[in-house]
Amino acid sequence: MKIKVIINIFLLAVMHMAVRADDGHDLWLRKINASPLKVVGAGKSQKMAIAMEELNSRWLGEADATVTLTIRPDKQIKPDGYRLTANSVQATTESGILYGVYELLRLQQTRQHVRSRVSNPSYQNRLLNHWDNLDGSVERGYAGRSIFWKGKDNVAVTEADRSLWAGYARACASIGLNGSVLNNVNASPEVLSTANLKRVKAISDVLRPYGIRTFLSVNFSSPKLLGGLKTSDPLDPTVARWWAGKIKEIYTLVPDFGGFVVKANSEGQPGPQDFGRTHAEGANMLADALKPWDGIVMWRAFVYSSTDKDRARQAYSEFMPLDGKFRDNVIIQVKNGPIDFQPREPFSPLFGAMKKTSMMNELQITQEYLGHSKQLVFLSTMWEECLKSDTYQEGRGSTVARCTNGSIFGNKYTAIAGVANTGLDSNWTGHDFAQANWYAFGRLAWNDTLSSAQIADEWLRLTFGSNDQNEINAGKDELWNTEFLKPVKEMMLSSRETAVNYSMPLGLHHIFAANHHYGPGPWYAPTGVRPDWTPPYYHQADTMGIGFDRTRSGSNAVRQYHQPLTSQFEDLNTCPEIYLLWFHHLPWSYKMRSGRTLWDELCFRYDQGVQQVREYQKIWDKSRNYVDQERFLRVQSKLKQQARDAQVWKDGCLLYFQQFSRRPIPYEIERPVYDLSFLESVNPLYIIRSADNEKEIIPNHY
Ligand code: GCU
Repeated sequence: MKIKVIINIFLLAVMHMAVRADDGHDLWLRKINASPLKVVGAGKSQKMAIAMEELNSRWLGEADATVTLTIRPDKQIKPDGYRLTANSVQATTESGILYGVYELLRLQQTRQHVRSRVSNPSYQNRLLNHWDNLDGSVERGYAGRSIFWKGKDNVAVTEADRSLWAGYARACASIGLNGSVLNNVNASPEVLSTANLKRVKAISDVLRPYGIRTFLSVNFSSPKLLGGLKTSDPLDPTVARWWAGKIKEIYTLVPDFGGFVVKANSEGQPGPQDFGRTHAEGANMLADALKPWDGIVMWRAFVYSSTDKDRARQAYSEFMPLDGKFRDNVIIQVKNGPIDFQPREPFSPLFGAMKKTSMMNELQITQEYLGHSKQLVFLSTMWEECLKSDTYQEGRGSTVARCTNGSIFGNKYTAIAGVANTGLDSNWTGHDFAQANWYAFGRLAWNDTLSSAQIADEWLRLTFGSNDQNEINAGKDELWNTEFLKPVKEMMLSSRETAVNYSMPLGLHHIFAANHHYGPGPWYAPTGVRPDWTPPYYHQADTMGIGFDRTRSGSNAVRQYHQPLTSQFEDLNTCPEIYLLWFHHLPWSYKMRSGRTLWDELCFRYDQGVQQVREYQKIWDKSRNYVDQERFLRVQSKLKQQARDAQVWKDGCLLYFQQFSRRPIPYEIERPVYDLSFLESVNPLYIIRSADNEKEIIPNHY
């Protein structure tokens, strides 16, 4: 009897857990109680079967409605685009049907009116760049090991692999993405070995029905390192022949292969300059080999040398002279800012510079510099800021988006890339709110004019909202809107500015702890380390002031922008305060627009960042009734850690800079709680790492 009772209690507990538990694996595609419907016009291909399946399992429109799917030529509709009504999707391709179906279902689930319209993507190639290594590790990955690679002894494909890849492909397709670069830009030549290419084929076969093409990052020295040639000189005919043969092998396995990403002559990677050739000569050799297959080369402009006085100038200086020298199937892939995915940078001046060369934006979804998967930072606002920045390339309105999406120069190929934040963690991205960054990237890649507010709204409704018609009818939906949606959305929308405040406000940049880039390290400058890998190179703090002078009296990087930006950034009266210390070295006593001194303003911003995270903790705690237990607790614990991290940032930076400013921290601001000597001696990644090992303090391992 006693045992029976125990078993019953156990079963009840398990059932309760099953109802409440949400490990986040379904992302924004959670199971819903769909209404029945009839679909007409669908063909029998795998892609159309997916479209049908999605409609059948997720239809929230009128019950028993008839939905028509039609493929026919239409000048207004681009290859992936679609025309939508409340119960029809028309497109010129099957992919277009799939994207239209996802949009229709999204509109229903987010309770938006479905108005008839045509939607075309902003970019032809909407890509995730996976920095996944063949051994299964992920460079700058914070959500577990690679979903694609498991090491050289594990290249055989399993059913579990296929099912994971299908889930990934479905998530990508549902937000309009259509390409995946499967390996790290620091590419191993081995990715092109026949064994690995077979795995690439298997991945492609799973991704293809979802409209996702595969791409690879390649090592420029592959002919020598993998092919055994004497050289990898791009102008050597044997080298070009080797690439042509390899490319043929790839296309035989993967007929819709997309092309290559190349990191060349950057951070120790090989490249054409090793042979006295230019980036253009290197890129064009690959472009010519890919041309017959309609493949493209995405050639990265992330280059900088240890000797230049200002790293921010170098990509422009190196690439501008090559404008017009690249083939039309080469796109120059440029990070959003001139340095490196910092919490805030002005846009890279390369956007808006080259007129005869296609350019594409590389954004970073994985949070290398924004709190890994431990901090809640919604990156959409940062990307929106970049995409909407006006370069003035062809006069007012030449936004970064328009310089890259083909609307100014009519480029033959257009693309946008996001460095992925996915891994084997059950929720894919580590932090539950990091899913929103994957989602936002896809939505902006489809429509680069969308607002972050709309994206956050959609994501929250899809990821946390109720689809239970009874609950909605009972008015619970309204309560959910005011008590959950509104405050949590505001938290997301302000979260990037909050991270900027507690880490590097007013245009400060790259003052991170070395190597892992988590937490502060403005003091890090061991002898022998190249200066541009140390924070003092960037913040330039001394007893006179702080900031990097990029005006005429400094590095003159400001000249790389078009007017009126050059003047605007150079003039202290017009330089936006968010970029102040990016462009100027200023005295600690400098008067800010607020009336405070620069030092006081800095203190105030750091403190504001900390206070904002404390506010987020309250917002989240108040949302307890609207979120399943599992996700609630996970996010709660991460916010706790973020509050501690923000404190570490504030104390570390203010106490360090105070040695130069020699001014008091304003009295209305909370006092530091850490000692500078302590923060300088520990590795920030390990300070009070998580709730369950609060006392763990691991010494510095720089
Ligand atoms: C950053 C990052 C590296 C990466 C590099 C790149 O420097 O820290 O891990 O390889 O960017 O984008 O190539």
